Amino acid sequence: AAKMKDEDKLYRRDGILYSTVLSPPETLDKLKDLQAREDDLILVAYPKCGFNWMVAVLRKIINASTGKDEKPPERPPLVEFLPPTVQEEMAQMPPPRLLGTHLHPDNMPATFFTKKPKILVVFRNPKDTVVSYYHFMNKNPVLPNAESWDKFFSDFMTGDVSWGSYFDHALAWEKRIDDPNVMIVMYEDLKQNLPEGVKKISEFFSLPLTDEQVSSIAGQSTFSAMVENSQKSHGNFGSIFFRKGEVGDWKNHFSEAQSKQMDELYHSKLAGTKLAARMNY
Ligand code: A3P
Repeated sequence: AAKMKDEDKLYRRDGILYSTVLSPPETLDKLKDLQAREDDLILVAYPKCGFNWMVAVLRKIINASTGKDEKPPERPPLVEFLPPTVQEEMAQMPPPRLLGTHLHPDNMPATFFTKKPKILVVFRNPKDTVVSYYHFMNKNPVLPNAESWDKFFSDFMTGDVSWGSYFDHALAWEKRIDDPNVMIVMYEDLKQNLPEGVKKISEFFSLPLTDEQVSSIAGQSTFSAMVENSQKSHGNFGSIFFRKGEVGDWKNHFSEAQSKQMDELYHSKLAGTKLAARMNY
């Protein structure tokens, strides 16, 4: 993948950009038939909103509440990365299965909604999300380098980035915000009070924890604890996924004009929504 030319690393499908290496057309075609189960744990996040953080938290919650101590699997639990043969093997996987995705709800397997598994959705202030995404593009060998910060910022604003528009994702979840199978958590709230987040998430998935388990999981899931463990959890890819882990880094990247531009887009898309009321914007 590293040798692939930058212009070949993404391709467009139904108007949205995807990774050529990780999500080729045959993988996305096959994904339509993936059979979710009612007892699956589904994790959804637009890229860079805290997916890997929540994967780590969820695995710890599952292990603590089931008494298992499973090694993290080799690959990230993103269904859009699973080759067709691996998608088939998933049928044999015992519960509880953790299935993750960065896909827009319209492009998820239909059974994610018809079978009514519980879905945890993570959002993050779009200003910090685009900054995180910009650095990720430049570090991840399967994605093209951003030409410049200004170019990546304008691509993000128009949704011309891998997995599509942040704002389209936000609007799609706004429609499902009151669905009893859906829980939305915010990156900034988790930073503010991780034990409370861990508790809420475990209760949502009906995987209750003792107070000691909650505080132990939260302690092992801080940014610094996860960085320390990243060689084990992510191998050499650790530095790609754990960059700064802070709220407000956008202030070090945005020009005043860019900040105003994003404020305007944010308000035109999301003003008055329930999601915006929860968002730390
Ligand atoms: P930054 O680039 O701002 O540091 P994803 O996993 O969805 O790709 O998101 C990656 C972002 O989540 C990165 O943001 C990363 O540092 C941050 N992150 C990862 N683990 C974290 C943790 N335990 N606490 C806070 N932020 C974390």
